[in-house]
Parts: sequence; C-alpha cells; structure tokens
Amino acid sequence: MPPTLLIHSAAQLLTLAGDAPKRGAAQSDLAIILDGALAITGAEISALGATRDILPLADSQTRLIDARGKIVLPGFCDAHTHVLFAGDRANEFEKRLQGATYLDIQKAGGGIMSTVRATRAASRAELVAQTRVRLDAMLAHGTTTAEVKTGYGLNLETEIKMLDAIAALNADHAMDLIPTFLGAHVVPEEYKGREDAYVTLIVEEMLPAVRNSKLKILNSATNSNFEFRISNLFVDVFCDDGAFTLEQTRRILTRAKELGFALRVHADEFANLGAASLAAELGAASADHLMVTRRDEMRAMAASNVVAVLLPGTTFGLGLNNFADGRAFIEENVPVALGSDINPGTCWCESMPFILALACRYEKLTPAEAIVAATINAAASLGIADRVGSLEPGKIADVLIANVPDYRHLAYRFGANPVETVIKRGRVVVERS
Ligand code: NIG
Ligand code: FE
Repeated sequence: MPPTLLIHSAAQLLTLAGDAPKRGAAQSDLAIILDGALAITGAEISALGATRDILPLADSQTRLIDARGKIVLPGFCDAHTHVLFAGDRANEFEKRLQGATYLDIQKAGGGIMSTVRATRAASRAELVAQTRVRLDAMLAHGTTTAEVKTGYGLNLETEIKMLDAIAALNADHAMDLIPTFLGAHVVPEEYKGREDAYVTLIVEEMLPAVRNSKLKILNSATNSNFEFRISNLFVDVFCDDGAFTLEQTRRILTRAKELGFALRVHADEFANLGAASLAAELGAASADHLMVTRRDEMRAMAASNVVAVLLPGTTFGLGLNNFADGRAFIEENVPVALGSDINPGTCWCESMPFILALACRYEKLTPAEAIVAATINAAASLGIADRVGSLEPGKIADVLIANVPDYRHLAYRFGANPVETVIKRGRVVVERS
C-alpha cells in the first residue's frame, strides 16, 4: 500500500529507535537521520530514512508535507498528570505568594481536598468538558499520549466517575490516556483521625472494585491505540508528609500488586519517607517527583528497573528551588522520564516543551536526554514503548513537526510553542503555520 502521508526533507528526523527505556549514556541517543523522511500508511509508520530513499514511495494519493528547515520527532508522552479535575485553586497560588506553604494550606482544609470537593460536586459531563480544554492545549503543544490519575474523588463513587470520564475522553479525544487509580492521594476529611480505616477501604473495597469493573469501560475507548490490559491500569500512592506513611503505602501497593496492577509512587516530593526504595523493592514501573532522593536509593531503583519520572514544573510551580537531581539519576543508570504533573494545586502547565526547558536548566539534563525522557522513556514507564515513543516502522504514527532547525532549540527556547504540526494515529490533528 502506498503511504497516505509522507513527511520529507526534515533537517533532523529524531527517530529515538532502539531499546527502551534508555539509560546512562543511551539516555541521549536520539538516532537522528539528517534530511529525513517518514512515510505513514493508515495509522502506522510504514517506512523512514533519507528523503532520497523514502520520497519515491509516494504516489498521487499520498499527502506530502515538506519539513525543510524543521525537525520531526515522536509525539510527547506525558508520564504523570492530574489533568482530570474540576475548578481551580488560584486563591491558593496567591496565598503561597504571600508566604503560606503547600502543606499549611492542606492542613487548613484546602489543597487537594479543595479540588476533591469541586470534583465530587461536578457531573461526569462537567468534568469531561473542563478537562477537554486542557487536553486540547496539551495536544497543541505536542503531547499525543498522557497518563491520567484519579485521586480527586477519594470515595468509590467519585473515583469511578473519574475513571469513566477518562474512558469517555479516550473515546472521543485525539490523545490517548493511560489511567492510574490514585485513591491514595490524601486521606479525605471525613476519615480524619481514622486514617488506617481509609487505607482499609482502599485495600478491601476500592482496589477490587476498580479491577473488576473498569477494564470493560476502559476497553470501550474505541479511539485508543491500546487495548487496556490490567497491566495498563496503574495504582499510585502519594507517600509524603500530610499524605500516606511508608507503611500505609506498602499496604496499598502490595495489595495492588497481588491484584495484578502495575505500580507508580509519588516519592520524595517534600519529605523522604523511603518511598523510592519501596518502589525498587516492589518493582514499581515508576517513582515520581524524587526531589530529595539519596544516591543509594537511586542505585536500588536502577537495579530493579524503576523509571524515574521527574516533574520540574511542580518545583517551579511551587516557587521552590530544590529541583530533582536529574544528572545523578542518569549517572546512576536510572532511566529518566519527564511529566508535566499538570494539576490545579502545584503545576497548571500544558506544555511539554516548557517542561524540557526546565529539566535542562534545573535538573541538569541535556536537550537530547530531555527529549528521550519526554518520549520513549515516558512510554516505557507506562508499558507502551512497543507502540509509541519512537519513530520506527510498525509503530503508531504519533509524530510532531517543530519549526526549529535543530533539536536543541526545543529546550533552548521557551515560552512560545515550537510545535507546528501534530499527527496522531496518522491523522493531522493540529496544523499551525
Ligand atoms: O503531584 N503530589 C501530589 N499530587 C500533586 C498535587 C495535586 C494537587 O495539589 O492537587 C503533585 O504535586
Ligand atoms: Fe503528582
């Protein structure tokens, strides 16, 4: 079959081909083809190489896109988001500017609980409508796949409403969404003083209910690149001061693992409670945030193949300066991925290019390492690196054209959107000139 779409003459075609995830020296391996071309047939990549070899595959039906002076790369994969929520917390942003800390606000009944109240009050349709606007912005900035957490329900009914909303968005939004159950985001206010009873509710009721009823709904997401398997459904716990203790985290994740879920952990965002080591011990797919992780814990993560998901937008969004030490993770051979962490409390950021700009400046990643982190390594952390995250024949055609002459410009420039064209499953879904 001749290609339906063919992009040619790219100054640089970043394929990111090869084993995934990429770690250590391989973390900077973009596998670039100069004067590159990419042929797409239907929803998949059918061929790629030098323009002189690929362009002759086109026939009269093939749509041609000239990428002269531009770069072509895989769609971004955002490894960590809380993009599904109702309302906003602009008032808390202002309070923090006046000196309150994130934890002060949470202890006073605001923070995550404030978004929980808004999300419980919203109908599924309202939740979908408010989130769709953010997904549109993410897509326009090049994100073609994103992980999405629940965690603003904190009761079974609303957590299920959130999973249903993810399925609904998956069915009719161009982006692919990978769901994570985060019933253990914080202990909801109605369980104050009975924290362990809430953990018991998660372990005994929520996890089995999510496992039994949700795969069916998620599989109805007909627009998706992926068939949702239980291994695509993640369970995450926020292990930190003001959230869950290490022992509570262990209880929840151990049960989740027994039920067949893959694991993610919010670790070391504010305090080091030992969650990165626990992630290594349990063989979690990822440990995320990692702002105060020790070297010996990094080595344990490397040994058990945990992907480090770094979220520099959150540190920036909180106005803090203790960024995660990305360089140290790479030195210790831990594969590094990036996420936006988009959420209403600490980081309302739809732009992965801005996240790359932050990761290079404050987490000491090189531009190449940051691009690997935002594509193939993020996909690997979600168990989907066989379908997306690199440009290789047979993979889903999720492709970006950025109007910059060299990949370093993706992180070098910031504040404007370098992404000009977004192709999702072989279809042009964003086109700006
Ligand atoms: O990743 N750490 C926990 N969750 C979010 C914050 C969520 C919120 O404040 O609504 C984070 O920073
Ligand atoms: Fe988070």
